[in-house]
Formats: sequence, structure tokens, C-alpha cells
Amino acid sequence: MITSSAPFSAQQFASKITGTGSGFPKRIVTNDDLSKTLDTSDEWIRERTGIRERRISKPADPNERNSSLALRAAQQALEMAGKRPEDIDQILYATVSPDTLVPNTACWLQLKLGAHRAHAMDINAACSGFVYALTMADQSIRCGLAKTSLVIGAEVLSTFTDWEDRGSCILFGDGAGAAIVEQVPGNSKSRILSTHLGADGRLWEMFHLPAGGSNMEVTPEVHAAKLDKMKMKGREIFKVAVKTLADYAVIALESNGMKADDLDWFVPHQANLRIIEAVAKRLDFPMEKVLLNIERYGNTSSATAITALDEAVRDGRVKQGQTVLIDVFGAGLTYGSTLMRW
Ligand code: UT7
Repeated sequence: MITSSAPFSAQQFASKITGTGSGFPKRIVTNDDLSKTLDTSDEWIRERTGIRERRISKPADPNERNSSLALRAAQQALEMAGKRPEDIDQILYATVSPDTLVPNTACWLQLKLGAHRAHAMDINAACSGFVYALTMADQSIRCGLAKTSLVIGAEVLSTFTDWEDRGSCILFGDGAGAAIVEQVPGNSKSRILSTHLGADGRLWEMFHLPAGGSNMEVTPEVHAAKLDKMKMKGREIFKVAVKTLADYAVIALESNGMKADDLDWFVPHQANLRIIEAVAKRLDFPMEKVLLNIERYGNTSSATAITALDEAVRDGRVKQGQTVLIDVFGAGLTYGSTLMRW
């Protein structure tokens, strides 16, 4: 089932993104670095995924924790929006690799940022997390629960990656993206136009992490069997990804009476360049209008779309009045798209 909030121009309030930011670990791990310990090659990884390198956190460094990367992203987003930490009413933190299960990573970020007025929660929708959190921010703002939300997509997935599984580890990287989302009048031209969310728990096995939750404690045996590392059925998820990304792009466009031609920028989840190219082909959408950062950062899960958008906002590609479609899929499986006018 698809949950939709589109379109809602008649309502009193709407929301818009007024600031974006990114934070990445310092350490760059290239494909050649991976080839030293894995039976793989730079050529294979680049051809099959479009990834050249990724950033990997040093777990022992407190400045490279999930919430520390998010702190840098949030500070940049606040600066762009001209806001202070005390202006934030709400922190919605999309992650599947929290600093700790309790407290949530949103509270760690609140502490580091000094955003003490904000209520703070984590949202787990894997790679779709940023769009899920953005949707919740949009709904909260339109209902009056918050006027200024800080939405984060941030991961240190390297902790849960099986670095001996060449079929999955080559994809992932660590990083964080942030957006300040603010209340604007419902008839504003520049605003979030629609959001659509979906999920299909029947497909859980395509991408999952068996241990570490209450189902299975991480014992030495469980760790030795690598049940505390992510399991992915790459080929299967590839096909579902192409279909659902295309479907959710079409749903977003149709519900706003638009065609692919009306879009200025397409910001898909960056799991594999070949998935993105296949979706663009299905939509008959030129790759020049797709915002990409997968080559340099790999798949940073909930951080991919917001960090790719942040880059394009900062270098001036995304301009006021343009239409931007964020379109994601992830473990769960989960899906979603947000269409906005910048
Ligand atoms: O956001 C998270 C959601 N995850 C995804 O969206 C992942 C989607 N899937 C993918 O990106 C791709 O399926 C992968 C990149 C994971 C794999 O690429 P593929 O083109 O689907 O490869 P494959 O699994 O069909 O494997 C083809 C061959 C196999 O060898 P044989 O059996 O043909 O001899 C694999 O063993 O490539 C081999 N292979 C590799 N070779 C060198 C798999 N991984 C590697 C590797 N280096 N890293």
C-alpha cells in the first residue's frame, strides 16, 4: 500500500527545505584498497557499480561517530538556513546504524548541537530513511507540531558490513546529510509538493541484519558466524529497486499533474549507478539532470540523496523555482519519493 500526502496546496501551512549540509569521515578507501584483501578489482567495481571510493569512519575516533558526522552536516544546514540550534523544534534522525540503541542518536545529536528545545527521535527505514523522516517533518510542520525541523540521514554502516563478502562490502560507505525544514504559507510556490511512502515486509530477506536486536543477542558464536553483519541478495534487490524507483517517480509526477520533462533534478538513492541509469531510461529522463555522488561516497544508505542534493545546492546547480524529486528504496523493503519546488 502507498501512503500519500499529495497534493495539498489548499492547506494553511506547507514546508520547505531552507538549508542543507553534509559530513563525511576523513578516511578514503579506494577500490584498489579493497582489492588488497578481497578477490575483486577497481575495474569490476567501477563497471558494475559506478563506485570509485568511499569514506569509512574510524570507530575509535569520537569525531567520526554517526552523531558526530551528523553534527557537522546539521551545523552547515543551520548556517545556510540562518538558524540557531535553539530554533529547532524537532530532530528526526533517519539511521539504521545508531550510536547506541538507547538513547536514540537524535538525542546524542541534540546534546552535541545544543538544540535543547527540540523533541528528538530516530526513524529506521534503512536507505529510504531520509524521505520517511522528511515526510514526518513535513506532516508535523503542516499540523503545527513544529515550525523548524532538523532532518538527518546518517550512517556508519561500515560497523555492520561483512568486509569479506565481496558481493556487498564494495557498495557501502559512511556519511551524513542534514536538512532544515521550515514552515511556509500553504500557497508558497517554493515548498514540498507531495510525499509518497510504501513498504513491503514480505521482502525482508533481501536485505537484513539477523543479530543485534531482541531476536538474537550478539554472542561470540553469533559474531563468529557473522550474523551481526548485513546480508544482501544483490541481484534480486537490484530488480526490485529499478521497478520501485521508477514507480515512485511516476506516482510523484502524476499526482502533481507533471511529466518527467517538468523535472529539473532527479535525486535517486545511490546504491548502484546501473540501477540509476536503468530508472532514468525507464522514465526517459536525461542522466545530466540526475544528481550523483555515488562515485566518491558509495552507498551511504539514508545519507545518499540528501548529500547529493546538498552538493548541488552548494555549487549552485539547484536554483530557486526548480523542481526536485527525491526517490528512494531500501531494506524492509521500504520505498518513497518527495517532490518539491526549490
Ligand atoms: O541500498 C542497498 C540496497 N542494495 C542494493 O541496491 C544492491 C543492488 N545490487 C547490486 O548493486 C549488484 O547486484 C551488486 C553490485 C551487489 C552485484 O553486481 P551484479 O552485477 O549483480 O553481480 P552478480 O551478483 O550477478 O555476480 C556476477 C559475478 C559473479 O561471478 P560468477 O558467478 O558469474 O562467476 C560474482 O561472484 O560477479 C562476481 N562478483 C564479483 N567479482 C568481482 C560479485 N561481486 C564481485 C566483486 N568483484 N566485488
